[in-house]
This record gives sequence, structure tokens and C-alpha cells, in this order.
Amino acid sequence: MSNDGVNNGRRRFLVAATSVVGAAGAVGVAVPFVGSWFPSARAKAAGAPVKVNVGKLEAGQQIVAEWRGQPVFVSRRTEEALKTLEEMTDRLADPESESADQPDYVDGVARSIKPEILVVMGICTHLGCSPLFRPEVASADMGEDWKGGYFCPCHSSRYDMSGRVFRGQPAPLNLPVPPHNYESDDVIVIGLDPETV
Ligand code: FES
Repeated sequence: MSNDGVNNGRRRFLVAATSVVGAAGAVGVAVPFVGSWFPSARAKAAGAPVKVNVGKLEAGQQIVAEWRGQPVFVSRRTEEALKTLEEMTDRLADPESESADQPDYVDGVARSIKPEILVVMGICTHLGCSPLFRPEVASADMGEDWKGGYFCPCHSSRYDMSGRVFRGQPAPLNLPVPPHNYESDDVIVIGLDPETV
């Protein structure tokens, strides 16, 4: 349970009790680079919320932000990718994300506040490597039945476009979803639940 008084069920993240939103969503590696703010070292050390602008993020692209020293994947999914999410059920270890670390407000196959925008921690639930964003459908190396998702290069765990892990992978859980909310149509604040703003 977080210290913000919000019933956040399965989520284990601790949300800092602060009214100060860090000046920045540190956007690190971007594919392609879209735009960013950078927090002060002090704000990062304190785990302050960070902002990410997805206004120029196109469908099929991802921004990698940083929150509490860890990567956060923010992607805009295509309509086709969203349609495949329902079809993945039989191939996934936890299609309903019942065991996942995520806030209650992102239930459903999309695991997001806005269906097209996914926000997940970029940390593999096996041993903590950072998975690669692989949105290309049926790419040569991922196989003909690949519908896009994430691939962990350390021990080959695969996740779908909602960060849900496939069955039989080294990774036991879906990628966690951090607390986040929308400050405006384009600006996401990572590290604060909607109820706290
Ligand atoms: S750390 Fe990702 S599969 Fe092992």
C-alpha cells in the first residue's frame, strides 16, 4: 500500500508524498528521439515524478523516460497492435495481469489509461535487464507469429505490446505499470496517481 492513501491493490510502488512535481521527464533513449525535460539530480535522487510529452510520439514509436533511476517505456500503439491484444490470451502467462504490479486504473488488456498509450517499467521481471522494443509484426528474427512487443536480450523473455509476458518464459510476471496520470492531453506525469493531483 502506498503512502498516498490510495487503494492501489497490486501495485507495490511507493509514491512519494510530495506536492512538487519534478521539472522533468528525463527522456533517455528514444526511438526515435521525440522530446524531453531533464530533472535536476536532486529531483532524481528524491524520486520525484517526471513528465513526458507524448505529443509528437507517433503510432509504433516509443520514448524511454527515467523515473527513480529506472527506465520507463512510453509507447503509442497502432490500431492494429491494440486489436491483437485480445487475441494473445492463450499465449500469455497472465493475460488479465492478476499478478502484475500495476495500479487499479489500468485494468484490461491495454493496461493503460488511454488505450493507445502504454506506460510500463522497462525492467524485465526475470533478472532486471531492460527489454528491447520490438513493434515490428512477423519480423525475421522474432518469427512469423510475432505481433510486436518486447524482447529481453538477456534470457529471451518475450512480452506483448501491453508488456504481458508470454507463457514458458524465464520472466514470471508482466512488466510493471508505474503510477501515472495525464496533466494534459499530451503530458504524462510518471510517479503520481490520478487521484493525487
Ligand atoms: S533478465 Fe530478462 S529474461 Fe532474464
